[in-house]
Amino acid sequence: MPDPQVTVNGRPRPLTGVPAHTNALDFVRGLGLTGAKEGCAEGECGACAVLVLRPAPDAGSRWTAVNACLVPAVALDGQEVVTAEGLGSPEHLHPVQEELAVRGGSQCGYCTPGFVCSMAADYYRPGRGDGLDVHAVSGNLCRCTGYRPIRDAAEALAAPSADDALARRQDRPAPPPATTRADAFARPADLAEALDLLRQHPDATVVAGATDLGVEANLRGRRPAYVVAVDRLPELREVSTGEPITIGAGLTLTEVEAALGGAVPLLDEVWPQFASPLIRNGATIGGNLATASPIGDLPPALLALDAGVVLASLDGDREVPLAEFFTGYRQTVMEPGELVRAVRVPRPLAGLTAFQKIAKRRYDDISSVAVGIALDVVDGTVVRARIGLGGVAATPVRALATEAVLEGRPWTSGTVEAAAEVMRGEGTPIDDQRASAAYRSAMLGNALRRLWAETASPEGVAG
Ligand SMILES: Cc1cc2nc3c(=O)[nH]c(=O)nc-3n(C[C@H](O)[C@H](O)[C@H](O)COP(=O)(O)OP(=O)(O)OC[C@H]3O[C@@H](n4cnc5c(N)ncnc54)[C@H](O)[C@@H]3O)c2cc1C
Ligand code: FES
Ligand code: FES
Repeated sequence: MPDPQVTVNGRPRPLTGVPAHTNALDFVRGLGLTGAKEGCAEGECGACAVLVLRPAPDAGSRWTAVNACLVPAVALDGQEVVTAEGLGSPEHLHPVQEELAVRGGSQCGYCTPGFVCSMAADYYRPGRGDGLDVHAVSGNLCRCTGYRPIRDAAEALAAPSADDALARRQDRPAPPPATTRADAFARPADLAEALDLLRQHPDATVVAGATDLGVEANLRGRRPAYVVAVDRLPELREVSTGEPITIGAGLTLTEVEAALGGAVPLLDEVWPQFASPLIRNGATIGGNLATASPIGDLPPALLALDAGVVLASLDGDREVPLAEFFTGYRQTVMEPGELVRAVRVPRPLAGLTAFQKIAKRRYDDISSVAVGIALDVVDGTVVRARIGLGGVAATPVRALATEAVLEGRPWTSGTVEAAAEVMRGEGTPIDDQRASAAYRSAMLGNALRRLWAETASPEGVAG
């Protein structure tokens, strides 16, 4: 097995001896590439953004911006990384750097290399046309310049030139995942090897995108004894839009969105509200379930979709309804040695669906309350209701009492009002720094009213 190394700005850099908890930001800064900065060390500010070459949904590859402060450096074994220094130099600025400079998009400059990398990822997005998607920088914060000149720079960008080396690199595949064995870190080649490693190391910590574990390492000093990376396992990257819809647990949310191609409208409402592109480019669907946060966004949506969780172990696979997956605060039915392999969503999908996230900011924030709703309305009657809730109990929960009120009733404003009153009482919300219990209950009550207001036809019957 070759020694671990990563290619940074075209130059191979050894990873031998780099501890599993050393993040990619500290690693590149240790190389003297100090453009990327630490602003928060928890994925919130984007000052640390770098580009990693990832497989494209169809063919070729894509430069993808990620928060280097969260990714373990050794997890990048065999990969290609570009930092702001690799995009351009003071003598030869990259077009993104040039536009930010001439339009006054940088003052103190602390955030600028991170903005440059997020903007460069969008600059190289095939089919982009002129101008950038401003949401490409929704995970980047600037505390002094103000966003208008940054936006001006983004909107002024033309397409990459035909001889742009980074654009041309995307025509070829990304490096395959390396099989890594480093100090206290392993990236197995396949599921069987991963499960065997978990058997050999019962104290091992599974890592996927590290958007949760990276925060624990940086802010809480967590130092796992042994880490097994599962995000590139081929068996955890399978997708099918057939019956059932199957989503590999190791896919990032960006990859899931692309692979589903709009097949699950309820999930399409989740993606733009889930953190930022920088986080979604790392976060996996398996990580979002296994971390068992009561305020995770996918559980309420997937509960409404009646999803099942496929768990893999040396004894084979078993499927658990998501409604039975969470057993307590940050606890699940997973046994030691088990992995989340996939999520299954049964067809047919409900006709009337919604995902509502109540947070302090519209983008890049954690939920105070999240509600997933899936209703089948046939001839004006609710024949099936599934509602998932986040942020109102120690685990994500189904709104069973509300579902019972809805099923068999006409889908009218009267039913909505009756169900909304029941929904106010669902869960056991608490006061915390994000919201009061009373506010959370009020938001639950409003969820169905909002759905009604947004979807009801003039006759009062939707679906
Ligand atoms: C700035 C920021 C914003 C965020 N915003 C949101 C948000 O808006 N909504 C939201 O829901 N979450 C949010 N999160 C939380 C986080 O991004 C998600 O929970 C994410 O889906 C975790 O996936 P991951 O692959 O990064 O998990 P990791 O950090 O790699 O792992 C998380 C946990 O899951 C376990 N695990 C991972 N994969 C598997 C597997 N296949 N089998 C078994 N166990 C596994 C790990 O052992 C670990 O315990 C945010 C995080 C940050 C840092
Ligand atoms: S340092 Fe803030 S997102 Fe990484
Ligand atoms: S230029 Fe100072 S923080 Fe953005």
